Amino acid sequence: PANAAAQAAGKLYFGSATDASEFTSSDYYYSYYLKQLGQLTPENSMNWNATEPEQGVFTFAGGDAVVGYAQSNSQLVRGYNCVWYNQLPNWLANGVFTVAELTEIVQTHCGTLVGHYEGQVQVVSDLFVHSWDVINEPFNDDGTWRSDVFYNTLGTSFVSIALEAASAADPNAKLYINDYNIEFAGPKATAMMELIQTLKASGVPIHGVGLQCHFVLGQVPDDLQTIMEQFVALGVEVAITELDIRMTLPATNELLIQQKADYQSVISACNAVPDCVGVTVWDYTDKYSWIPSAFPGQGEACPWDSSYVQKPAYDGIIAGFQS
Ligand code: G3I
Repeated sequence: PANAAAQAAGKLYFGSATDASEFTSSDYYYSYYLKQLGQLTPENSMNWNATEPEQGVFTFAGGDAVVGYAQSNSQLVRGYNCVWYNQLPNWLANGVFTVAELTEIVQTHCGTLVGHYEGQVQVVSDLFVHSWDVINEPFNDDGTWRSDVFYNTLGTSFVSIALEAASAADPNAKLYINDYNIEFAGPKATAMMELIQTLKASGVPIHGVGLQCHFVLGQVPDDLQTIMEQFVALGVEVAITELDIRMTLPATNELLIQQKADYQSVISACNAVPDCVGVTVWDYTDKYSWIPSAFPGQGEACPWDSSYVQKPAYDGIIAGFQS
């Protein structure tokens, strides 16, 4: 299996995004491949609107389901996520809170969420939520800060407020900042590198950068490995956190072979960087991929098809870990 190939290559895991709706499905085959993965990321169930739908009221059922499933299958979990501009509850709106109030809201949310999994999970198992995407998607593609309730109220300080709170709640977790379009040289990657340098220089706990890697067929960046090496040189680890490679439908044999090569080149890049610790696909099966609803006419982005049949992409992943 792909996870065994990843571990043979010295990586911690090969995993997938998922949520309880996928493993409570009536489809028999769901469990077979999902259980063989080494790591799970809750796709939506730990987002702010799911975990603190009313201020100060925390609900962990969806996240607990993923963590419980992971425990029973000896899988790592990447916690996802603490602070993101999307999937926020309605009460967390722009212009409602003062600096002091929002500071406390971010501290409470990050501390309670990360603390919930630190306390519960490590007690019952050796397994644990081993890393957290504390900050998700803070930048615009031009490298400027995204205008959202956090930045608009707190400026850039929301990043260190969240990281400090997460670190206090789970001092053992690897704390990440995660984004897309930082997989190649450009203003967004530069902004992320400058942020990491600033945080490091100020002693803020930051351990990793997540490169999402939502790619288009035939357009895997040539400099993916170089970019990862540049992040690592700043004193952080990296992970590929949301990999998928979409194509214009219908899928042909030729496109699927190109996809295999693309998956292989992404995995090979991670393989060549010792501090690229693991790879997560943004769903292992096309059945649950976000792509068709977000990009009508595109899809087939995952390594298993919608009937859970391994595609050539799967062989590309194995070959990448063996490269
Ligand atoms: O939970 C509601 C449900 O109550 C409602 O009935 C249903 C009706 O549409 O919507 C449900 O919410 C959906 C949610 O997924 C949970 O299923 C949202 O509409 C839908 O927009 C949301 O899509 C997610 C998307 O992020 C936007 O938040 C995708 O599943 C998820 O794969 C995608 O993941 C993102 C990462 O978080 C960040 N990086 C990019 C990646 C792809 O966009």
